[in-house]
Amino acid sequence: MNLIINGKRRRLDVPPMARLLDVLRESCGLTGTKEGCGEGECGACTVLVDGVAVDSCLVPVAQVEGCRIVTIEGAAAAKKNATALQNAFVEHGGAQCGICTPGMIMSACTLKAGCSRDEIKTALAGNLCRCTGYISIFQSVEAGLPPSPRLRRTGKSRLCKTKKGSRARRR
Ligand code: FES
Ligand code: FES
Repeated sequence: MNLIINGKRRRLDVPPMARLLDVLRESCGLTGTKEGCGEGECGACTVLVDGVAVDSCLVPVAQVEGCRIVTIEGAAAAKKNATALQNAFVEHGGAQCGICTPGMIMSACTLKAGCSRDEIKTALAGNLCRCTGYISIFQSVEAGLPPSPRLRRTGKSRLCKTKKGSRARRR
């Protein structure tokens, strides 16, 4: 299997039906991607596949051959908001036990500047947390995303869109 993982081409000798989650964790040593439920319910295993947030526990690696995969380890290099989001999760208490946090951040990486609270909730709808009660997570994402360019110029808010299909895995 040939994949581009965190910007590097990888040729992996793995079964085509192996879960992307297992390939990342066990064959690539990228253990930042977590397994929660293992059946597409919790979002702990979220990674980006060609820019779209997907549950890697549901994806046979054969389905993503040739795709660009970004995990939490490569997020800072691939997505300009990732470092600010990671810091905001620490500063605003969005991370407690941390199991859900990589998935939360990967989903949040699909958001654009100036998103509303409702848009953040929609983007994170497939990510479950057993610790924080969500408010601190939403606050972390709000703090980690830059304000919209228009807001910076005029003080007015502007809605934004998540990447098309970013929550497709839930539907
Ligand atoms: S481990 Fe993949 S959605 Fe829960
Ligand atoms: S911080 Fe523990 S599950 Fe979210």
